[in-house]
Amino acid sequence: MNIIKFENVTKIYELDNVILQDISFEIQEGEFVSIVGKSGAGKTTLIRLILGLEKPTSGNIFFNEINIGQMQSSHLSQMRRRIGGIYQDYKLLSAKTVYENVAYIMEIEGKANEEIVRDVPKVLEAIGLSQKINNFPHELSGGEQQRLAVARALVNYPDVIIADEPTGNLDPYNTFEVIALLEKINKTGKTVILSTHDREIINKLGKRVITIEDGKIIRDEVKGRFII
Ligand SMILES: Nc1ncnc2c1ncn2[C@@H]1O[C@H](COP(=O)(O)OP(=O)(O)O)[C@@H](O)[C@H]1O
Ligand SMILES: [Mg+2]
Repeated sequence: MNIIKFENVTKIYELDNVILQDISFEIQEGEFVSIVGKSGAGKTTLIRLILGLEKPTSGNIFFNEINIGQMQSSHLSQMRRRIGGIYQDYKLLSAKTVYENVAYIMEIEGKANEEIVRDVPKVLEAIGLSQKINNFPHELSGGEQQRLAVARALVNYPDVIIADEPTGNLDPYNTFEVIALLEKINKTGKTVILSTHDREIINKLGKRVITIEDGKIIRDEVKGRFII
């Protein structure tokens, strides 16, 4: 079953600024898909469309075969809870510890305290941050901060992980660690969508690549390479 489907999606910002033009693709449950394009190509816009944070100018977007454009706002927020987001700037809570950063995500979901106490250490263990449980974000390296962001994205058991240039601020070593983590998450059956303009990541992954240029999908390959 496809989990995300774009059907002839066009996105035009004001002043006739055409960002995406007649884009169609499907992502199947459990796939690992990279979205590739130069800076300004529309990768973040495409992700915001998936999350329903932007509306397409024309065309339709489906999540689990339901048209996002026709979802009530309660259904839309329910859908967003099925998606874990990871971003270039980590989006951590600087006044909270590593433990609290993850626990907070569960608290706002209304999770029971015993569930929080059980799951937070588990997810921190899985991403290799058990030793830093009481540290604050500014006491972590960039790679550790992004791994914490991954833990936050994972803790509510989403179906899809969307990572928008998650390695944009990382050195090659930490980049490798974060990408390896995304691959591991994908192996557990979750769909992973990764936007990047890092050639090396793409060529190493050997997974499906959708390349966007001038608002169009110029390539969609099962074992893609970085060509632009
Ligand atoms: N809210 C907005 N209003 C107008 N233009 C926007 C808006 N958001 C993004 N853009 C423009 O859309 C283009 C694509 O941006 P973006 O999706 O962020 O690209 P990428 O993530 O690939 O770097 C850019 O030219 C950007 O200036
Ligand atoms: Mg972007």
